[in-house]
Amino acid sequence: MSQFMQWIDARFPATKVWNEHLAQYYAPKNFNFWYFFGSLAMLVLVNQILTGIWLTMNYTPTGEGAYASVEFIMRDVEWGWLLRYMHGVGASAFFVVVYLHMFRGLIYGSFRKPRELVWIFGMIIFVILMAEGFMGYLLPWGNMSYWGAQVIINLFSAIPEYGDDIAVWIRGDFIISGATLNRFFALHVVALPMALLLMVFLHIVALHQVGSNNPDGIDIKKNKDENGIPLDGIPFHPYYTVKDIVGVGVFLFIFCWIIFFNPEMGGYFFEPPNFTPADPLKTPAHIAPVWYFTPYYSILKAVPNQGGGVIAMAGSLVIMFFLPWLDRSPVLSIRYKSPIFKVAITLFVVCFFILGYLGMKAPTEMRAIVARVCTIYYFAFFLLMPWWSQWGTTKPVPERVTH
Ligand code: HEM
Repeated sequence: MSQFMQWIDARFPATKVWNEHLAQYYAPKNFNFWYFFGSLAMLVLVNQILTGIWLTMNYTPTGEGAYASVEFIMRDVEWGWLLRYMHGVGASAFFVVVYLHMFRGLIYGSFRKPRELVWIFGMIIFVILMAEGFMGYLLPWGNMSYWGAQVIINLFSAIPEYGDDIAVWIRGDFIISGATLNRFFALHVVALPMALLLMVFLHIVALHQVGSNNPDGIDIKKNKDENGIPLDGIPFHPYYTVKDIVGVGVFLFIFCWIIFFNPEMGGYFFEPPNFTPADPLKTPAHIAPVWYFTPYYSILKAVPNQGGGVIAMAGSLVIMFFLPWLDRSPVLSIRYKSPIFKVAITLFVVCFFILGYLGMKAPTEMRAIVARVCTIYYFAFFLLMPWWSQWGTTKPVPERVTH
């Protein structure tokens, strides 16, 4: 084996990469369960790609054939039902895991110097993931697929002057049609997964350049032993490779339970109108996107004017890219931040959930008012952060990590 590895290493940096990124990559020793979600996001990514490839083998990307081919996968293809449920539930799982992963970054200040690029690559991943989810949702060609895409693509018509032309350009037609389905298929199975993989690679490269943050928000490189190894660091492999298996185990329990016992999740993962084929002449009584888009959909609807809504929705994502420069607190982690931060972030989470809930519901006047209040809070949280993040007293940060 060692001669074989020598042969390989002379031609390819296998051992070097293994050591630099796993066996001799020192990660802080105080990682808690919040640090499971990065490796879980990778697991779900692999799940989506593998099940996606096998679904593609029996899926027909045409207006005439798509719906029937999905039924064929569910009823006749061997294990086809499992592939589809793993992929469909996997999409929701992806967002659960990524939202928790982002929240971890938020509470521990992981987006701040020197991890700005880790965060920005992460945000690009998030935007690509949203596009991937949106395009994938059209593919079963159910009635909600059809009308969901209709509503979202029509938003582009609100762009002054060129809006209508842009919407036609996206659809490849004057209405959502087989042409739209075909191009969404190409983007969903080839272009966006490739972009996603590239960005995940860059995300990890950037992270390994600066090293992981940790729940204390302390730089472990400040305290090194005589060999230059961080005193509060442990080799990623075997310590965290083994620890991450715990996260994978818990995740798989929940994932399998949903797939085998409750794949539609009460209509949240697979929506009821999508069990009828797309029909351009039959608008569903109430059109709502899948749960992971609803906070942003609420922001869109909170602004009375459609153009303004589109700008607000786009702005709610754009503003998150700037987070590394908005937070001016002297400490990184929530553990040592002022109570003001704890209140502000709790309210932010509450508003995000309320927006998510309202995005699923039919609009009423009362709901519109609540959505507006939450939208204002969402923007105020970020835009005013340069000020409020400096208020209040922080706790002293210890020299070494606590665990
Ligand atoms: C496909 C999606 C993603 C994958 C596979 C992924 C993967 C990872 C992995 C493996 C780590 C190191 C382990 C860990 O800290 O949990 C990590 C760290 C990190 N990720 Fe992601 N990530 C994804 C999306 C995102 C998104 C959407 C964001 C935020 C916008 C983000 C922000 C971060 C940050 C700030 C860190 C450093 C955390 C720290 O050091 O405390 N990631 N990511």
